[in-house]
Amino acid sequence: MKPTVAPFPTARLRRTRASAALRNLVRENNLTVDDLIWPVFVREGENVSEPIASMPGVYRQSIDNVVKSAKDAQALGIPVICLFPYTDPSLKTEDCAEAWNPNNLTNRAIIAIKEAAPDIAVMTDVALDPYNINGHDGFVENGEIINDRTVEALVKMTLAQAHAGADIIGPSDMMDGRISAMRTGLESEGFQNVAILSYSAKYASGFYGPFRDAVGASGALKGDKKTYQMDPGNTDEALRLVERDLMEGADMVMIKPGLAYLDICHRIKQTFGSPTFAYQVSGEYAMIKAAGQNGWVDEEKVMLESLLAFKRAGCDGILSYFAPAVAKILNG
Ligand code: PBG
Repeated sequence: MKPTVAPFPTARLRRTRASAALRNLVRENNLTVDDLIWPVFVREGENVSEPIASMPGVYRQSIDNVVKSAKDAQALGIPVICLFPYTDPSLKTEDCAEAWNPNNLTNRAIIAIKEAAPDIAVMTDVALDPYNINGHDGFVENGEIINDRTVEALVKMTLAQAHAGADIIGPSDMMDGRISAMRTGLESEGFQNVAILSYSAKYASGFYGPFRDAVGASGALKGDKKTYQMDPGNTDEALRLVERDLMEGADMVMIKPGLAYLDICHRIKQTFGSPTFAYQVSGEYAMIKAAGQNGWVDEEKVMLESLLAFKRAGCDGILSYFAPAVAKILNG
């Protein structure tokens, strides 16, 4: 009997790549407008859109212009806008009291956006750095970042934002115990439906450089953030942080920065299956923009490919300064 030999090649994996129709049919991951959270920078003034040199195409906007951006984002179908304040240096103090002022820039912006664009969810950042004369996310005492007293202040900041109408609270400070303290505070004041998206695995990263320019914190920061943000060499610690934050009442978790930490995104999603987000931070944005502007890469292709990578790694969504540009492309 003749031996049966399979015709060569046995499996032609190129078959499902041969046409756009087949490629579209078998694609495992897609990027959609629903995956996007758009971070924006707010400043004082009227009708101001001030360019940020290290983030081409990103502006510090006065509240009236941020409201216009929120309406545009809502029309594009972007589900969430996230606010970062550029605080006047005269309001930065050691006690950071501006952080929980009900009339601070962030809280006024929340109120204005909720009124003008009620269908877009508003997310906030909770950390003391925009208000701290030292540029740190927590109170500084004798050169140390103090945990527990900082957490008390973060709860006051959270509650002020919830009263203004924030939908999602984003603690980015990396203090211990903050999630349960914030959750308890929110529940006790009747904010059962205000969600917490915790910056759970936030690394001490060089990729935040342009952001610190954008919020005017680079000059202020004394030292580094290594005693509270994660060491870039660690993975297991990220899992412990996420587990802890979920136990303490976080609804969603975040990995930050993004592209250099896709392994962390993947492991967290595989382990916990909870809503998982990545922050494509300012330095990642700046690198793509700079290379694009020099003609070294095709900006649009690299932007879409980098965002799709987060979906492939298991993320449910991405915070990205590219959000409106991406939404326009995806909406056709
Ligand atoms: C502040 C905060 C930072 C970012 C978001 N919230 C900077 C930092 O921790 O120094 C960085 C975002 C970006 O780089 O795009 N706690």
